[in-house]
Amino acid sequence: FLPKKKKQRDSLINLKIQKENPKVVNEIDIEDLNSASVCYCRCWRSKTFPVCDRSHLKHNELTGDNVGPLILKKKIL
Ligand code: FES
Repeated sequence: FLPKKKKQRDSLINLKIQKENPKVVNEIDIEDLNSASVCYCRCWRSKTFPVCDRSHLKHNELTGDNVGPLILKKKIL
């Protein structure tokens, strides 16, 4: 039996990104994307959050999780 607070702490997804903010929200204007594709972090471990830096690979290896980035691709006309 774990105290309620300990149980809640163990279920945190975001361990260190912008912890001073009550909610982390990122707004990206698709029109501002400069390259054909951009990868956005969904594992909350990236040192370049919100952009993926491939930290999910280590996280998945250590935990057995299966998370990966959201990839936005721009149509080249
Ligand atoms: Fe988080 Fe890649 S670093 S999804």
